[in-house]
Amino acid sequence: MSNIPSDKAVLVTCGLPYANGKAHVGHLRTYIPADIFVRSLQKNSQETTFVCGSDTHGTPIVVNAEELGITPKELVQQYHTHFDEVFKKMGVEFDAFGTTDDDTNHNRTTEIVDKLIEKGYVYPKIIEIAYCPQCDRFLPDRYVAGTCPHCGEKARGDECDQGCGKHLEPGELNEPTCTICRGPAEYKEQEHFFFKLSEFKDFLMEHLENLGGTLNARNYAMGWIKQELTDWCITRNLEWGVRFPGHDDLVVYVWVDAPIGYMAFTEQWAEKTGGDWEKFWKGDCPIVHFIGGDIIYHHCIFWPAMLKGADYSQASAVVASGMLKIEDKTFSKSRGYVVWVEEDYLDHGFHPDLLRYYLVSYTSHTKEVNFSWKIFQDKINTELVGVLGNFLYRNLLFAFKNFGEIPDGDIDPEVIEKINSTIEEVVRANSEYEFKKAADTAMALASYGNSYFQSNEPWKLIKEDKDACGKVVKNCIQLAKALILLFEPMTPGSMEVAWKQIGMDSDVHEVTYEEATVPVVSGTKLEKPGILFTKLEDDKINEMEAISSKRIKAAMAKEAGIEEVEIMEYKDEIEYDDFAKLDIRVGKIVTAEKIKKSKKLLRLEVDIGDEEPRQVVAGLAEYYDPEEMVGKIVNVLVNLKPVKLCGVESQGMLLAADAGERVSLLSTDKEMGPGSCIR
Ligand code: 2FM
Ligand code: ZN
Repeated sequence: MSNIPSDKAVLVTCGLPYANGKAHVGHLRTYIPADIFVRSLQKNSQETTFVCGSDTHGTPIVVNAEELGITPKELVQQYHTHFDEVFKKMGVEFDAFGTTDDDTNHNRTTEIVDKLIEKGYVYPKIIEIAYCPQCDRFLPDRYVAGTCPHCGEKARGDECDQGCGKHLEPGELNEPTCTICRGPAEYKEQEHFFFKLSEFKDFLMEHLENLGGTLNARNYAMGWIKQELTDWCITRNLEWGVRFPGHDDLVVYVWVDAPIGYMAFTEQWAEKTGGDWEKFWKGDCPIVHFIGGDIIYHHCIFWPAMLKGADYSQASAVVASGMLKIEDKTFSKSRGYVVWVEEDYLDHGFHPDLLRYYLVSYTSHTKEVNFSWKIFQDKINTELVGVLGNFLYRNLLFAFKNFGEIPDGDIDPEVIEKINSTIEEVVRANSEYEFKKAADTAMALASYGNSYFQSNEPWKLIKEDKDACGKVVKNCIQLAKALILLFEPMTPGSMEVAWKQIGMDSDVHEVTYEEATVPVVSGTKLEKPGILFTKLEDDKINEMEAISSKRIKAAMAKEAGIEEVEIMEYKDEIEYDDFAKLDIRVGKIVTAEKIKKSKKLLRLEVDIGDEEPRQVVAGLAEYYDPEEMVGKIVNVLVNLKPVKLCGVESQGMLLAADAGERVSLLSTDKEMGPGSCIR
């Protein structure tokens, strides 16, 4: 739904990535359409400001930094730089890309929280917080795991991420355990601060009625409000974050200071450019939030209530993208279902524009996308290479070879009409956040171009009537000009090259749609065009699929509790006689102890049916405690020449399966007497 006036500057924001891991293609499902939307608004002569930044606070970041032995500041700096670089490489161009740990955000958050306190929207309450007696600490958010009180699924911290998706308040998880020591946690009373969300119910109902953007955002949020709206705990026991005013032991919950980042980054943009940030946040210039479909609750319920409580302007639209899946599994970096932007895409030499086009044209913005290399290949080869690339290359090469410049001739009114109606349709589709429709409409103009070229047969005309041929070529170049402007938001890098190919020396990123019907200038010199989009070959796609499938297999095995097995090269073939030389017998471990001088070795005595047990030294200390070994039935190679290990003689070898991190002793599936032979 569009409610953005065309005569006002628009602020577009993108959900802030957590500076806690690398960028994956799932992230891009939001950022690329947002960037395309901004570029399309600019093409339609609208002023835009586009901001984003790193979400640097919250418990997962503290937990990760702790695990890595670095400070949260060091951790977020590393990932902030990473995201900044990846966005630039992918052509996503923010006017400001800050971090929520910047002073601007600390100050703005403090100002807003102070205002909410002053206006009586925040109150203290004693609540039960998960506490770990072993670690002697309170357990905010991700520090606690348990089961979801709403759906019974396993959940961690503040969100039921594998079940019903609900936001979870502190104290809500059942059967809490500590994620640091994995021991049982208990609930203990502590004072926290709550935001009176319940007082905003009527306001939110009305706000959502008028909210533009995609219907999934509005409808989900309305459904939740109708069910219940409980007050919201906005403080946490952490050191990392924005201090809760007047309480040195508390910070505000990350979902308070993260969206305030949108405002802080607009301030940073204003500072840098001399722009006016208040026209958005205190005035009536529209704000459009692009977010992932998993954070609708935060943007359509918490955030508008905070803005209202602190007397700021509201967003005009929330545009929520459908999730990206891989092989039908929801993208999850922690679980391994992931395609990394750098190592799985850019580092393999794929042009950023291909992924941009695929993500925006695959399906409607709110629908789920199941990432598939084959569909990626098919869309690129059929549409970008087969239709758009084919039209531009064929036509410009013909023009270059036969004229060397843009020939003379009038532009057909039909061509102008076709360009105008396409632009109108693309503008409408973008304003309704129907990016696939916009892409398909633009591609239809390229198909029209191909038919125009084909049906006018310029290769025949050149021999019969050079002027008539020139006119066809000029019309094709006019269509190329319009197409370049229409595709610039989707494939900006390639269209920059194409713009030069038609002899333009302006900056294609600055030129608006109005220029599309301005006649191309006869006599403009043309250079030999290069190919803009190259066919993706099967070998390359197969290679990419193999990488994905290996990753998914490993993730599935991990979920099933089995590590990925590295398949070793097979050894040379042997004769039965070679095998028969091995004397392997069933043994029962009688004693086991660590060898003092070694971290790896255990000294074992194994009953193999003889009068005296065999002494065996085994490299198993990292995998087994000596106590658990006693009594185990094992397979022993008994004719291996004795060797001394750490000064202790080993008179045999236990057989075991070795999968790197785990080692498992071989046994027999029925209890066999010590000394039984293995053949
Ligand atoms: O879900 C997330 O990835 C959050 N980091 C998004 C924050 S968006 C905003 F509100 F700041
Ligand atoms: Zn749940």
